Amino acid sequence: MIDLFKRIFNPSRVSIELDDIQALILRSRPVPYFGTNVLLQINDRQTGREMIKKLLPLIASAENWHEATDASATIAFTYEGLKALGLPEDSLRSFPQSFREGMAARARHLNDVNENAPDKWQKPFGTGKIHAAVNIIADSEDKWKAKLEEARRELKKLEGINVLVEADFAATEEVKNVFGFRDGISNPDIEGSGVDEVPGYGKPIKAGEFILGYPGEAGTVGYYPQPDVLGKNGSYLVFRKYHSKVPEFNKFLKDNASTREEQDLLAAKMFGRWPSGAPLTLAPDKDNEELGSDPRRNNHFSYKDDQDGKQVPLSSHMRRMNPRDTRQSVISDVNLHRIIRKSVSYGDAPERDVIKDDGKERGQYFIAISAKAMETMEFLQSQWVNDGNFINHGDEKDPVAGLNQGKGVFTVPGAEMRKRYHAIHTFNVMQGGEYCFMPGIKALKWISELNENES
Ligand code: HEM
Repeated sequence: MIDLFKRIFNPSRVSIELDDIQALILRSRPVPYFGTNVLLQINDRQTGREMIKKLLPLIASAENWHEATDASATIAFTYEGLKALGLPEDSLRSFPQSFREGMAARARHLNDVNENAPDKWQKPFGTGKIHAAVNIIADSEDKWKAKLEEARRELKKLEGINVLVEADFAATEEVKNVFGFRDGISNPDIEGSGVDEVPGYGKPIKAGEFILGYPGEAGTVGYYPQPDVLGKNGSYLVFRKYHSKVPEFNKFLKDNASTREEQDLLAAKMFGRWPSGAPLTLAPDKDNEELGSDPRRNNHFSYKDDQDGKQVPLSSHMRRMNPRDTRQSVISDVNLHRIIRKSVSYGDAPERDVIKDDGKERGQYFIAISAKAMETMEFLQSQWVNDGNFINHGDEKDPVAGLNQGKGVFTVPGAEMRKRYHAIHTFNVMQGGEYCFMPGIKALKWISELNENES
């Protein structure tokens, strides 16, 4: 089995409470993976608390994050969910404004407008009915089904909990998304988690950027939900369902590049990596499977010697999302805008010659985690995805994640002259999403034991 995301664990470097943090933040997804996202509505606070009690034994902590696990579950709540659970008023008020408003209400800040606007989202997204999200993931079909069955059994016992959506996802050993590109390679490491530095991943980032209750890059502990037991070791999770228009993407490649090799290069310029995961910086001309699957090399690069983007366009998805050492015309500290991505794909990956919409459901459940995930996503979406000012590209948008609506432009600097591609579509269309809070293990217990009289 290819181990794409291997990290070396050094117990002497542990300084955060791993046993109180949900595993998803730190543990790599199993390879291959099979899973289900379950979205729930809590109709009665007491039953909601009961549900947490029943699900708690299925929720893994990050204690052994470095060890592969066969199956695990994660739970997170929307603000409406925390209200439905009857959290004390003081606690509810201690959550940030953006989280309390919810993703749909923040659409303007996320540039979720026009084609991506909440009124076009799939229900129940944006209706306020989604209260909790449970993510179940396993490394084999059998273990996934067993874990899912276990969760279903527990949920069935509870009247007052509605299962609104059960959506499956999966990836093979190559961990490719529906465009055929390996995904989930570059994620920041967290200081104090026990991780040993891996070349190219840079210095681990201060825990407070990702987990509540610890100092962040500025050296101070950010404000977190109260009481302490509720907020500490928790984090925020941004969930966005995308429909991927792969046939339209294939057609764009075909219309703009004549040979298969040229199409592959154009696609790699748009993503910043080749399908194998090999970074364009280290493999400028063609894909390199060995490089793409080597975790010690596939993220070990810098843009220092490519400031004009002749190898990796400044506008490519990956370079926008993490400019690394690119000189930016709008200065900002790249490490303050990092997210931990745990996105998963659903549906099949059509061959490159499929260029007509086949009506199939396929795409990505985009999952981003950070101690200020709402703020970071709103920054990324408005500045780095849907604007080009920070790279001196006017209003040019991200060719993969941008709201391009058939009018998008993609600039590719070349050895002699630059090329501009036109008529880029929104290749990934928003279907809906939610801002969630992912409490620590002790917090889950605390919520589950809240007394009727206290709330
Ligand atoms: C919606 C469809 C999307 C697809 C198909 C997609 C695909 C990819 C791929 C293939 C990579 C390179 C592999 C890797 O390093 O993991 C990547 C990297 C990345 N993407 Fe996306 N992405 C999508 C949306 C987004 C969005 C909405 C954001 C954030 C607003 C985002 C943030 C990132 C980040 C931070 C990286 C890593 C960059 C780095 O550290 O070098 N992606 N994405």
